[in-house]
Amino acid sequence: MNTIIDQIQQGNAWPLSHAVPDPDAAQTVSLKVNGQEVHLKIEPWVSLLDALREYIGLTGTKKGCDHGQCGACTVLIDGKRINSCLTLAVMQQGCEVTTIEGLSKGDNLHPMQQAFVDHDAYQCGYCTPGQICSAVGLINEGKADTREQTSELMSGNICRCGAYTNILDAIEQAKGELSHE
Ligand code: FES
Ligand code: FES
Repeated sequence: MNTIIDQIQQGNAWPLSHAVPDPDAAQTVSLKVNGQEVHLKIEPWVSLLDALREYIGLTGTKKGCDHGQCGACTVLIDGKRINSCLTLAVMQQGCEVTTIEGLSKGDNLHPMQQAFVDHDAYQCGYCTPGQICSAVGLINEGKADTREQTSELMSGNICRCGAYTNILDAIEQAKGELSHE
C-alpha cells in the first residue's frame, strides 16, 4: 500500500475535487442579535464577525486582524466578551449576541458609550466599538478593582491611535456608575 508520502510524490494525495467548495454547504443558522432573531443561510465556516458585518449589516463591529490579536471585533455573548473573528456563527445558535449597536437604549447611550464621549476616548474610532464592548464585558467579570487591573484586563484591545489614557479614564467613570446599578 502506498504511504501518504508516495501519494504526494505521485501527485494524487488530495484529489482536486476535495478542494472545491460545496455549493450545497450553506445551512440555516439562527442567531439572536441585539434582542432580535435572525435567520441566515450561510456556510458553517462563516465567522460570527463576518455574519454580523457581511450578512446582517451590523458594521459597528470592526475587522482588524481577523486573527484574534487586536480586539477590534469584540462583542458580547451572554454578557461575556469574545473576539467574534475567532468563533463561528453556527456555534452561537441560542446565545444572546450583543454588538455595539445593541448597547444603547434608543437615543440613550449606554453609560460606557457616554463615558467614552465624555473622556474623548477615541481618535479614529476604529477600535472603539471593540473597546466599549470589551469594557462592558470586563465590568460583568467583576475582576478589575484598580486602574492597573483594568489596564491589564483590557490589554487584548489594541488602539493604534494610543488613546489608552482616555480609555482608562472612561472605563473608570463607567465602572463607578455601573456598579451602582
Ligand atoms: S479582528 Fe478579531 S481580534 Fe482582530
Ligand atoms: S481610536 Fe484609533 S485605533 Fe483606537
